[in-house]
This record gives sequence, structure tokens and C-alpha cells, in this order.
Amino acid sequence: MNEPNGRARQDVLSTVILAAGEGTRMRSSTPKVLHRVAGRSLAEHAVRNAAGLDPDHLVVVVGHGRQAVAPHLDTVADRLGRPLTTAIQPEQNGTGHAVSCGLAELPRSLSGTVVVSYADVPMLDTATLSRLLAEHHDAGHAVTILSAEVADPTGYGRIVRGTDGEVRAIVEQADASPEQLAINEINSGVYAFDAGVLTDALDRLSTDNAQGELYLTDVLGIARADGNTVGALVVDDAWLVEGVNDRVQLATLGAELNRRIVHRWQRAGVTVVDPATTWVDAEVTLAPDVTIEPGVQLRGATSVAEGALIGPDTTLTDVTVGPQASVIRAHGSGAIIGRSATVGPFAYLRPGTQLGEDGKIGAFVETKKADIGPGAKVPHLSYVGDATIGERTNIGCGNIFANYDGVAKHHTTVGSHVRTGSDTVLVAPVELADGAHTGAGTVVRRNVPPGALAVSGGSQRNIEGWVERRRPDTAAAEAARKAQAAADHAETDRESQP
Ligand code: UD1
Ligand code: CA
Repeated sequence: MNEPNGRARQDVLSTVILAAGEGTRMRSSTPKVLHRVAGRSLAEHAVRNAAGLDPDHLVVVVGHGRQAVAPHLDTVADRLGRPLTTAIQPEQNGTGHAVSCGLAELPRSLSGTVVVSYADVPMLDTATLSRLLAEHHDAGHAVTILSAEVADPTGYGRIVRGTDGEVRAIVEQADASPEQLAINEINSGVYAFDAGVLTDALDRLSTDNAQGELYLTDVLGIARADGNTVGALVVDDAWLVEGVNDRVQLATLGAELNRRIVHRWQRAGVTVVDPATTWVDAEVTLAPDVTIEPGVQLRGATSVAEGALIGPDTTLTDVTVGPQASVIRAHGSGAIIGRSATVGPFAYLRPGTQLGEDGKIGAFVETKKADIGPGAKVPHLSYVGDATIGERTNIGCGNIFANYDGVAKHHTTVGSHVRTGSDTVLVAPVELADGAHTGAGTVVRRNVPPGALAVSGGSQRNIEGWVERRRPDTAAAEAARKAQAAADHAETDRESQP
């Protein structure tokens, strides 16, 4: 009897993910499995997909770059809320050796089933692993390979079948005869093994092959020689077993994964105007009747509620967008946008921005640690940092919340129904009480009581004739002279009227 995820009941399930290889073709100082697609490292994709089987043991074998890979795996395990064992393969002596290193971390007399996969195969989903397990148990094989038919099998191990279709062996590219090289069915490197057969065979592997390595694939021959059967499950969708070796494949797989994520949301009721320029991370959630215009990247744990409009040309990372809100030509991270609020065009929302229901953050506005109340508006050309703004307040054009004195940041509190004049500077720490107003160009350095009008800078003086004296022979002086002459003439005319 199989459970829905393909596991046999009461069977111990162990998953071993290989991640020790160097990944030289990435030409990167970052270990290959830490490169990202759809907002997650390759390693995290592989771990999540294996963890979906709910295995008793989840082991990742690390080697190259383990100083960076092992701590990353710890954070992945934390996020998944499940234990994960990291095994070390000090030298890369082949896939068989890697699995031995992984099993060394597990109980010595391991029973049940062992699933082996690679950390650089991000699209291999839990559903396919479940099908592999179900096939493995139903057929009663000692080894079941996940295979695929591909147009160009170069580089892969070929599946050699007998006259009645049974799997006889996997032959590596380097060890294959010309006839074997013509085989299009390839070994994906993903398998289900009987744990006893696997542990026994691993001890008997040899390095007698073209690469002088301990081949995991040789377990098949040993198992068959011992009288066990070996099978293969052919996946129709070769993308699922595609690995990343260089940055071209990284981008190709990233695009395919994105295409599938976007399709999934479209089928769930999201309008995506241009899927080709819409990038949605695996973790993002979108509600029905969200509309996404072209040129949008939704990253991290971004979530968008029903009826909201995003884009065009918007990038949101870890942003929560409320129902019916619109976010147009904006760049945001770590922000919360309320119901029916509007953002943009050309807005920059930094972490700690919170915009209330019906609020507005308009054109050329930057916000940071700013709690902007319901119905409050910051419509144009402003910086709002370290601030609390109450309900229905209107921040005038070109206001600056001067939050930094060169040493420390300070907070500004603006009450409800406040109106600030254009070009107001609020020098923090300062408070404007409910209903306060400021005149245009005011520099607010002291608290403003409820309902008061704050003005600063003194009254205006006009210094007559300044241009003519200090800027003679300029176009401005000439224009001023003409205007003055016309005004004098009009005055004379008026005086000469009877
Ligand atoms: C292996 C298979 C081949 C299969 C191919 C699929 C063997 C002998 N061959 O090829 O049949 O078609 O995968 O991609 O198994 N790794 C380690 N430690 C090692 C060696 C490899 O952890 O000592 C890891 C690598 O990081 C990688 C994976 O195992 O994730 C596969 O290694 P790679 O060298 O790419 O596989 P091949 O041996 O070429
Ligand atoms: Ca490979």
C-alpha cells in the first residue's frame, strides 16, 4: 500500500541530495548550488522538493564551497521547520562515493528506501519524486531510475535496455560504445534504491572506469548480479530533470520555471498582460483578479491581494499590497500598502513603509520607516523618513522630513488632518499636532500645536532696482526696464485722463 506521496507505509524513507561538486563551468566565486532562480538557491529548490516527500532522513552531501553551502542549508532547514543533515564529502571521488558519505551520517543498518537526487536540478518537483517512489514500490525493484528521452544525450549516462525492454545498465558517456552513444534515453541522476541493496553495493564499487571514480550507476550491475530487478520511470517532461552547469542553463531554467509560475497564477485568476516580462518568485502569492502590467518583478515574500494593479515597470520585494491598491512604476521593498491605496508613478518605497487604506504615495516620493495613515497623501517630490503621519493629512509638494542630523536618525510625528505647505522642511525630532498647517517654505524646528499655522523665515522684502544696479546690461535688466517703462506710461496716461 502506498500513501499519496508514493511512500510505502511503515517504510523508512531517506533522501540524499548530492551537492559536493565544484561547478567549475559557472566560473563563479559563489558555489553553484547557491546561485538562484525564482528567488531561491538551486539547493533550496532541491531541498524543498525532496522535503515534500516528508522523509525520515534528509541528507545533503556538501564538499566544494561547503563553508558557504552548509550555513545556507541550516537557514533553509529553519525556514522549512524540519531537520536536515549535512554530510561532508572531502574529495569528489564520484557519485557513488558521495552517496556513501551521505549514508555514513544515517543509522548503520538503514532499511527502507533511499531517494538520491542532485542539488543543481531545481525543477524536479515532489510530484515526480512521489511517482518515482510509487513505481519503485509497485514494481518491487531494488533500483528505480528516473530517466528521460532527450534529443541530445551528450554527456549523460545512457540507459541500456535488454531485448524485452528491461533495464540492464547505465553506461557513462566516457565508457560508452558508438552504439550506446546513439541511445537517447538518459539517466537523470535521480533514483530510488532499496536501502539494503544500496549500502551493500556501495561497499563493492570499483574505480575501474574511464574517469577512475566510484560510479553510483554501477550499483545497478551489482544489484542485478545479485538477482534483483532494476527499472526506470521515464519522465515526459525533460525540464524536470534538467541540471544547471553554467550560467546559460541557469538563465534558461530560470525562465522556464518563471513561465510555469506565471501560468499557474494566470490559471488561478491573475491577469498577466505580458508573461515574458513578468518575473514572479516561487514564494510570491497573488489573489484572483490581480492585474500585472508588463515589466514587473515580484520578489521574495511579496503578496498581492484581490483586484490590485501592479505595473507597468514595477519591482516589489517582500511587499504586501492590499486589495484594490495600485502600484505603478515603483520600486519597493519591505513595505505594506493598504486597501485601495495608490503608489507611483516613480515612487521608491524602502523598508518600514506602511501606507494606510486610501492613502497615496505619488510621483518622485521616497519613503523609509514611514507609517502613513488612512487617507493621507504624499503626492509629489518628497522624502518621508522615520515618520508617523495621521489620517487624511496632506503633505505638500516637495516636503523633506530631515531625519538625520549627521550622527543619528530622529522621528517626526505628524497628526491627522494636517496640511503642510509646499517646500516645508520638518527637522526631526519634531511634532505637528492634529489640524496644524505650515506655510510654503517653512522650516519646522519646533513642535506645532493643534490647529496652529507655522511659518518661518520672516516677511518678504523687495529691494527695488537691484537688477538694474547689480546686473546691468543683462537680458533681465532690459526686460525689467521695458516693464517699468510700460508701467510708468500707463500711470502717466491714467493721470492725464480728465
Ligand atoms: C552523473 C551520472 C550520469 C547522469 C548524470 C546526470 C554517474 C557516474 N553518472 O553524471 O549517469 O546522466 O549524472 O546529470 O553518477 N557529485 C558529488 N560528488 C562527486 C561527484 C558528483 O556530490 O564526487 C554531485 C555533483 O555536485 C552533481 C551530481 O553529483 O550535483 C552529478 O555530478 P556530475 O559530475 O555532474 O555527474 P556525472 O558524473 O557527469
Ligand atoms: Ca552534471
